[in-house]
Amino acid sequence: MTELRPLGSSDLLVSPLCLGGNVFGWTADKTQSLAVLDAYLAAGGNFIDTSDSYMNYFPEQGNEPGQSESIIGDWLATRRNRDDVVVATKVGDHPKFMGLAPANIKAAAEESLRRLRTDHIDLYYTHFDRDESIPVDDIITALDDLVKAGKVRAIATSNISPERLSASLAFSDREGMARYVALQPQYNLVSRDTYEGARRDVVERGGLACVPYFALASGFLTGKYRPGKSIENVRDIPGLAGGYADTERGVKVLDALERIAAARGAEMATVALAWLGQQPTVTAPIASARTVEQLPALLAAQDLRLSDTELGALTAASS
Ligand SMILES: NC(=O)c1ccc[n+]([C@@H]2O[C@H](COP(=O)([O-])OP(=O)(O)OC[C@H]3O[C@@H](n4cnc5c(N)ncnc54)[C@H](OP(=O)(O)O)[C@@H]3O)[C@@H](O)[C@H]2O)c1
Repeated sequence: MTELRPLGSSDLLVSPLCLGGNVFGWTADKTQSLAVLDAYLAAGGNFIDTSDSYMNYFPEQGNEPGQSESIIGDWLATRRNRDDVVVATKVGDHPKFMGLAPANIKAAAEESLRRLRTDHIDLYYTHFDRDESIPVDDIITALDDLVKAGKVRAIATSNISPERLSASLAFSDREGMARYVALQPQYNLVSRDTYEGARRDVVERGGLACVPYFALASGFLTGKYRPGKSIENVRDIPGLAGGYADTERGVKVLDALERIAAARGAEMATVALAWLGQQPTVTAPIASARTVEQLPALLAAQDLRLSDTELGALTAASS
């Protein structure tokens, strides 16, 4: 069984592969979602990522925000496994609770608790820091109130500038308030400048954990998207998986992944996640599985240790 690891300076212990929850109620129906959650837990996983907004990005597909949390909540209640799982959710992108104004954070947290059918959220992220007119001091104070009330165990952030992240940490330290323990950036073999550089410097200096999202570049790094070929998939669009296949970097990364995967007898997805998991500051990449069959390739990354030569080849291909 893979060992759990501490998440930054928090007292949360998490598995090295975090299960992405944006598929639940989107590309995976409820039955499929429950099966993926069961299989992940049975394999020793304990770290589940969701948001109050999943999945509101494609309203034309009839998706309702909150469905992912509701499915996870029903799973926790029916399986009676709340204490075996670290539940991470996010605030700030639900259509009814958009943004990070303090009153909004408090109201959205209550809705998340209701949908998740729990009395506490283990890790609470700010999802998008879009409105910089809201002082970070107010955001941290609102989050600190939730921690003091026992509704949230630890706080974290996503999609934030390095400057606002630094300022948030400084405010927490100065005031002795709850402090972000993790950053969730977009980060993978075809998207590195979204994290490496200033954001990673702040994470490193501040002792935070990096929990990267889109760890498979929405599926591109599994190798099923190839240049000039389109596939029947909602993610085959620019901005998600479909945007990478026709780029020079995308082609080079797939070549390197294919070569290393063949030599190791592993899936390309496994190698891509292993590369990410071995990058400085990364605690647990987040990847989702639409079906139970997709899960083993993701879980295998927890046990694959790439050599310096293999890591170097992938880093060079993605530069
Ligand atoms: N903080 C943020 O702003 C933010 C933004 C986005 C995502 N996230 C979080 O990060 C998580 C991960 O992102 P993501 O789920 O969008 O993308 P991802 O993890 O990069 O890609 C996962 C997708 O790849 C495909 N896949 C997975 N394993 C596969 C396999 N073995 N073989 C073939 N295809 C496979 C599946 O989609 P198909 O089968 O449909 O191809 C799966 O849903 C999300 O679930 C969410 O929790 C956070």
